[in-house]
Amino acid sequence: MIDLRTAKDILIKYGQEHILRGYDDLPEDGKASLLSQIERMDISVLDNLDKEKNSNYHRGAFTPLGAVTVDDIEKNHDEYFSEGIEAIRAGKVAAVMLAGGQGTRLGYDKPKGMFNIGVNRELFIFECLINNLMEVVEKAGAWVPLYIMTSEKNHDDTVEFFREKNYFGYDAEHIVFFVQDMAPSVDRNGKIYMEASDRISMSPNGNGGWFSSMVRAGLLDSIKEKGIEWLNVFAVDNVLQRIADPLFVGAVIRSGMESGGKVVSKAAPDERVGVLCLEDGVPSIVEYYEMTEEMRTLLTEDGELAYKYGVILNYLFRTDRLEEILDSNMPVHIVSKKIPYMDENGSFTVPDAPNGYKFETLVLDMVHLQKSCLPYEVIREKEFAPVKNATGVDSVDSARELLAANGIEL
Ligand code: UTP
Repeated sequence: MIDLRTAKDILIKYGQEHILRGYDDLPEDGKASLLSQIERMDISVLDNLDKEKNSNYHRGAFTPLGAVTVDDIEKNHDEYFSEGIEAIRAGKVAAVMLAGGQGTRLGYDKPKGMFNIGVNRELFIFECLINNLMEVVEKAGAWVPLYIMTSEKNHDDTVEFFREKNYFGYDAEHIVFFVQDMAPSVDRNGKIYMEASDRISMSPNGNGGWFSSMVRAGLLDSIKEKGIEWLNVFAVDNVLQRIADPLFVGAVIRSGMESGGKVVSKAAPDERVGVLCLEDGVPSIVEYYEMTEEMRTLLTEDGELAYKYGVILNYLFRTDRLEEILDSNMPVHIVSKKIPYMDENGSFTVPDAPNGYKFETLVLDMVHLQKSCLPYEVIREKEFAPVKNATGVDSVDSARELLAANGIEL
């Protein structure tokens, strides 16, 4: 572990010496814990507060990108299926669940996957996802390796829950948990918040760090040894998520592209969803707030929206390509959030409005580091039921309706 002198040097460089204000009065274990947090946190994210240094986040010229449509997929069903199921059977495909988020909008204080979406029976979000993956396992006659990314905040609860539920029938030998990295949270003046004299306010650093966190967790060697060529990364909170979908895998392999993204047709031009398109000729996702009115309403010759295909956080990446881009700079997004902190008088305060910033990298920015990406259209009502909020849009209520419409007993 670093010593006090080194910790001071790091903090002085970033103007954050206040972190050590209470250090001298801490017991020995508190001192050690604080030094270890200083060592572990990615303090370099603070550079991004400086607009001039944050030059890695500039946008190029966007152009529309079509997709393999639901009709195309139906026509090529058998071909895609056999290609995909063969790859799965040969152990070339693994799944990566992103479950490190804090789910603040849902307002549930446990890991989101532990939420019971059932009505008359227990049906947990994690259970829905495992059930979906089991369908593929049964078709392939082979287990799909499943990696689950947690955060320091929810790791123990998540692992314990899976153990308690006997992995919902999945083979525990094929499940690997790993923890994502943390980044500090700051106030409006860029000063890192403290939660207590011996605790820095830190949060999971966004879902973009999943592959580097896997590598840091020492998983790359075994991924290579097992011959895993494709990683299907997906969000924990879409209860209709199809994981390691043989058709998707087959379509991407057949296309010869180095990645793929599941997309849904936008419900309306102004729907708040990121759209898979091209940026300076390479794949990219344009966020809804980055689109001009002209882009939003632009039509193709067939009268369809040109920027039509919204992403649902389900991507297929090649392992070797991910390794190549491991050291690439990912843009760091600065997000305004409510951050609990220790105030001037030493009391712990939970704000009721955003009071500072968190730093996150996003998986969607990884798409831009790929030379090619196949947009693969799925039917929204069958594959997209995100649980973001307690009520209203993308909520527990809407997800329950969609589950029921798909014949899932609640
Ligand atoms: P969201 O962007 O919806 O974030 O995550 P969230 O933390 O779950 O929810 P809010 O914004 O606080 O309400 C999309 C996916 O990315 C994962 C989430 O678990 C979810 O599957 N994620 C997000 C991580 O794994 N790590 C992160 O740091 C952030």
